[in-house]
Amino acid sequence: MQKITITTPDDWHLHFRDGDILNETVPATARCFARAIVMPNLVPAVTNAKLALAYKQRILDAVPEGSQFQPLMTLFLTNDMTPQDIVDAKTAGVVAAKLYPAGATTNSAAAVKGIEAMHPVFAEMEKQGLLLLIHGEVTESHIDIFDREKVFIDQYLRKIVADFPTLKVVFEHITTSDAAQFVKESSENVAATITPQHLMLNRNDLLVGGVKPHNYCLPVLKRSTHQQALREAVASGSSKFFLGTDSAPHAKHAKESACGCAGCYSAWSALELYTQVFDELDALDKLEGFASFHGADFYGLPRNTGTVTLEKQDWQVPESLTLPSGDPIVPFYAGQTVSWKIA
Ligand code: NCD
Ligand code: ZN
Ligand code: ZN
Repeated sequence: MQKITITTPDDWHLHFRDGDILNETVPATARCFARAIVMPNLVPAVTNAKLALAYKQRILDAVPEGSQFQPLMTLFLTNDMTPQDIVDAKTAGVVAAKLYPAGATTNSAAAVKGIEAMHPVFAEMEKQGLLLLIHGEVTESHIDIFDREKVFIDQYLRKIVADFPTLKVVFEHITTSDAAQFVKESSENVAATITPQHLMLNRNDLLVGGVKPHNYCLPVLKRSTHQQALREAVASGSSKFFLGTDSAPHAKHAKESACGCAGCYSAWSALELYTQVFDELDALDKLEGFASFHGADFYGLPRNTGTVTLEKQDWQVPESLTLPSGDPIVPFYAGQTVSWKIA
C-alpha cells in the first residue's frame, strides 16, 4: 500500500510541559491528533481541578489558529488526595487520574507512596467514571530496572484490578510481554498504551556502540523478545491496545548529561513511525483501530470525524529543533529516515 487514510487519531498519553514550551509542543501534536491525554507531572504537579483547568487554558492558548485540537486533562495522584478531589475533578471535566509510584519517573517525587492508602480515592474514581492511568513500575532500589514492570504487575496491578473490577485502568506505555499478556487476560476494563519507541527499539538501541541518551525513556527499553511481543499485540488488532506516544520533551543538555533525563520527544514523527511499524508488520489495516478507535471507545468518548492521509514517502526527522526558550532539543529519531509522511 502506498497511501492510507484513517480517521483522525488521538494521542492517549503525552507530556506538553508548561510555559513557553507549549508553543512548541502543542502545535507539534495538533498537526495530526484531534485530542490528547495530557500528563500532569508538572512542577508543581496538577493535583486538583483548579490547577487542571488553568493548565488546560494555557494549552488552549497555544493551539494554532484554525485547529480544533482538544486537550483531555488528568490529575496527578498523591497521598494527600481525598475522594472529594475526585468529585471536583469530574465536575471540571477531568477524565482521568495518574498513578505514579513515587520516584518512578520524571517529576514523580511528590507522587504515591503506599498504593493501598489510595483505595478510597480509587473507589471514588470507580464511582465517578474517572479512568486510572498507571505508570506501572516498582521503585524499590533492590529490584532490577529491567524487572520493575513485571514486579509491579504481580505486587500491585493484579490487586488493583481485582479490588476495583469496574474501574477502567490504562496500563501506560507497556514495555514487556508480561504486561501485554496481563492486559490480554484481564477484563474489558483494562487496556494499555504503547509508544513508538517501544515498538521500534529494544535495549540494544540504547546501549550497543555507546549510550544513546535520546533513546532513554522510562520504562526503559527491554530485550527484543519483549519488543516482539508488543509488535504482536498491536498487529493482533486487539481493542485493548491503543496509541499513546508518551512524547516527553527534555532539552538537549538535559538528555546529553552525566545524569540524563528519561523521555523521548516524538510528537514530530510519532504517527508516521507507528504507520511504518504497522506497514512492517503487514498490518496497516489495524492502524486505524489502534490510532483512532480503541482509545476513544475505552475512554467512552466519541470517535473523531475527520481524516488524516499518510503516503509512503521518505523524509528525515530534523537533527535538532530550537525550543521557544532558545535551547536546542533533539527529537526522537533525529536525522533518521521515516518511510511514511502525512499528505
Ligand atoms: C516521562 C517524562 O519525561 O515526563 N518520561 C519518560 O521517560 N517516559 C515520564 C513518564 O511518562 O514516565
Ligand atoms: Zn510514565
Ligand atoms: Zn509519560
